[in-house]
Amino acid sequence: MIKELFDKAPINTDVCVKGWVRTRRGNKNVSFIAVNDGSTIHNLQIVAENAHFDAKLMTQLTTGASLCAVGKLVASQGAGQSIELQAEEITLYGAADPNEYPLQKKGHSLEFLRDIAYLRPRTNTFGAIYRIRHNMSIAIHTFFHNKGFYYVHTPIITSSDAEGAGQMFRVTTLDLERLPKKQNGVVDYKKDFFGKPTSLTVSGQLEGELAALALGGIYTFGPTFRAENSNTPRHLAEFWMIEPEVAFYDIHDNMDLAEEFTKYCVQWALDNCADDLAFLQEHFDKELIERLNFVLKHPFERITYTEGITILEKAIEQGVTFEFPVYWGADLSSEHERYLVEKHFKKPVIMTDYPKDIKAFYMKQNDDGKTVRGMDVLFPMIGEIIGGSEREADYDKLLQRVQELHIPDKDIWWYLDTRRFGSVPHSGFGLGFERLLLFVTGMTNIRDVIPFPRTPNNANF
Ligand code: 4AD
Ligand code: MG
Repeated sequence: MIKELFDKAPINTDVCVKGWVRTRRGNKNVSFIAVNDGSTIHNLQIVAENAHFDAKLMTQLTTGASLCAVGKLVASQGAGQSIELQAEEITLYGAADPNEYPLQKKGHSLEFLRDIAYLRPRTNTFGAIYRIRHNMSIAIHTFFHNKGFYYVHTPIITSSDAEGAGQMFRVTTLDLERLPKKQNGVVDYKKDFFGKPTSLTVSGQLEGELAALALGGIYTFGPTFRAENSNTPRHLAEFWMIEPEVAFYDIHDNMDLAEEFTKYCVQWALDNCADDLAFLQEHFDKELIERLNFVLKHPFERITYTEGITILEKAIEQGVTFEFPVYWGADLSSEHERYLVEKHFKKPVIMTDYPKDIKAFYMKQNDDGKTVRGMDVLFPMIGEIIGGSEREADYDKLLQRVQELHIPDKDIWWYLDTRRFGSVPHSGFGLGFERLLLFVTGMTNIRDVIPFPRTPNNANF
């Protein structure tokens, strides 16, 4: 791998490199072919004496072509690279006709690359993003494994809509052109695959709680689906979520865990993705690495929702304008969250104790009868990156909330049962993986941090 060659630089040994041509330049006598194999952002320069190779082969070594080059690794004579390969043999795997290959040397916009998402991993930018995405996944598993948490696989197909986190995608094998109907004209779901209506899950939390109430500390890390028609730079219809759930944790333990966890991930990126971050910083976001370090340095500010509203109302009095209204009871928008984080506190904020009406039924109810022990972690450039809470562990209080919200017993009886049999205080949260990646990469559109984004009217590749 090219990364290994750069790391170890085994000068004067024979090596073999396989990869894709990024650029090619040269003159009558010699060609310089920059090859990338995906292992690193850096290309290896292949130096080839034209006379030594078949003329037709040499014309085919254009951007996008795949090859194998064998030769001696030498210290580079030219500027811009430390080592290069002096080719003795070159084999072409596959040509890429320069008149047709959509990726030319450089300067494609992110919008254009989204349209050719099937090829964009071959660009420097998306190579870096894919590698960082991998590294963040490893960071997450390492963090929880080291803490003694177990990775639990929660189902993707669900028959309950208890969470209420968003519009769900239906899963069915019924023929939509010829739906089986009961005598009264309504669809007969007994004829559907599972014998009842099912959907793609919006969260693994409820099943995660079942596991936490047996294993102590668990986490999920899987795809989740929300059919909201929100075409924003922060929403996907299919995204990945990490959801730790911990028995015997209260809201304060939960906040500590969220802060330690996000900082661990950011530190991991700095430690393991330095070259890719440097590339993204140079090309997209001059303050990227400074911002990552900044988040590590400062304790997150912890405030209640009510305090947050007061700050926002004062800001409005002083002339700050927002698109959406601010009042006690309002669901905050990303503009409000970012004001608190970027302008007011100038560091990440953990906001707690939200009005119960804007949060899910399972959050622990405070004694004031108005608020619940929910918590959102708010980050610079993003707004909400984590949502979570201490859970209501009291059966009667939980049942009352379930009834107030008309959640059908058939959807939730098993969840309620956990509060009848050995209930304990417990807490958890969900981190949006792509929101974390937005922060770590400095990208500004969530479609650019997942290989194949699914958004309204877009499910290509
Ligand atoms: O705040 P949410 O809806 O919380 C839950 O789903 C809880 N069940 C989590 C838990 O307590 N176990 O979503 C959690 C996070 C958000 O903070 C956000 O980062 C991300 O998931 N998220 C999205 N990311 C991309 N696209 C979307 N449409 C998202 N919706 C939520
Ligand atoms: Mg939320």
